[in-house]
Amino acid sequence: IPVEPFDLVIFGGTGDLARRKILPGLFRRFCDGQMPDGARVIGAARSEMDTAAYRVTVGEAIGEFGGDSAVDCDAVDAFLERVEYQAVDAKGEGGWEALRGLLRDGMVRAFYFSVAPSLFGDIAERLRSFGLADAQSRIVVEKPFGHDLASARSLNATLAQHFDEEQIYRIDHYLGKETVQNLMAVRFGNMLFEPLWNAQFIDHIQITVAETVGVGGRGEYYDKSGAMRDMVQNHLMQLLCLIAMEPPSKFDPDAVRDEKLKVIRALDPIDYHQLVRGQYGPAGDAPGYREDVGDARSRTESFVAMKVHLSNWRWAGTPFYLRTGKKLRARDSEIAVVFKDTPHSIFGPEAGQHRNVLAIRLQPNEGMTLDVTIKEPGPGGMRLIDVPLDMSFADALGPDAEAPDAYERLIMDVIRGNQTLFMRGDEVEAAWAWTDPIIEGWQSRGDVPKPYDPGSSGPEDALMLMHRDGRRWREIKA
Ligand code: BG6
Repeated sequence: IPVEPFDLVIFGGTGDLARRKILPGLFRRFCDGQMPDGARVIGAARSEMDTAAYRVTVGEAIGEFGGDSAVDCDAVDAFLERVEYQAVDAKGEGGWEALRGLLRDGMVRAFYFSVAPSLFGDIAERLRSFGLADAQSRIVVEKPFGHDLASARSLNATLAQHFDEEQIYRIDHYLGKETVQNLMAVRFGNMLFEPLWNAQFIDHIQITVAETVGVGGRGEYYDKSGAMRDMVQNHLMQLLCLIAMEPPSKFDPDAVRDEKLKVIRALDPIDYHQLVRGQYGPAGDAPGYREDVGDARSRTESFVAMKVHLSNWRWAGTPFYLRTGKKLRARDSEIAVVFKDTPHSIFGPEAGQHRNVLAIRLQPNEGMTLDVTIKEPGPGGMRLIDVPLDMSFADALGPDAEAPDAYERLIMDVIRGNQTLFMRGDEVEAAWAWTDPIIEGWQSRGDVPKPYDPGSSGPEDALMLMHRDGRRWREIKA
């Protein structure tokens, strides 16, 4: 869907996120013909520099992070023509009048807050007091959206003083991932799955987001967050919502977000026996977590695994196992829906136990696998084996179907005014309301995360979490 001409102001326009994701993403959309004539990007930050100097830094960012499209230098130059810069003082008066002078009337106006959350209030207030924002303007904010329920509430309240909820786009970049959206397409676009999508037929669901990277370079932020705040409260929670929610009546922002909110509110509090925290150790010359964050006594988790229950009609009795961690064996994220055994085996005990598993691979190598039980070929009687119906989206849809990066898609949704893939304030608060007692429990017990080897699947206790229930995690594999 084409977008209207727009003015997009990026506060923090010289920062890491802008350089790595936002600007290269906009450039790729430009190459794809999705930035109409008259669309403009305005970097805004504290540094004094002119537009020419800013264009040089943007060009460099595109060269470094723009991927294959960045080799087309003519396109880079044409894109840079659309880029401007204005220095502003987020906490003072400087630059705001000039920034207003750059904005054009009659266009979509979006302001991307790619800055520390402590500046959200100052910027929101100045957008109003200097007359930069009107009732149609949109603001985009990034995680971390609060540190706990109290801080998330106060951020929501601050933004609400200046903007309506319909103007606020809270990014969770997982919602921009192609396969994450595919969860909804698979569930609600097929007759095949939804009738079986409940506790009667599903034994359990596993959600794994495994990363190979450590926290090197981001230690200061990460050590105050840990995997629970950094990944579970937002990304894993969103995946859980999409996999567990009731069908919304239509694919529209509030219908979808209402259903997600109900999932979060149906989560049972977790007993600490159902939680495992881990922290990666050193390996050879590679520093461990504590060296990476520069605190030899840090008790922050770089891995977490847990068993959660949803108290509602659809899911009572079906556990959800969630795990995520850094420095694991492979970058491998998937959701596996493990169906129950057939009620009775007509083939007798020697046929063994067989289960259908629907695995949705989020990254890398996006696709879906459905394990189906068939007869083992040969004359040896009725022996059963499980074989995968395996579909990689790249093979099924062809190489040209390359999906835009999550940020690109989400920024374009901001311009189109579509909030479906953005978190509503009440969702964020509900997720913190569930997460807070878990973190407080760790703190009050002085919980120390279990060490695990880099390149492993996490601490042994995480395996036990499943084994105790007679179940197994799926392998984390490259
Ligand atoms: C970010 C987290 O939100 O998501 C990072 O802060 C994490 O710690 C990243 O590495 C994972 O995103 P992706 O898209 O690489 O799976």
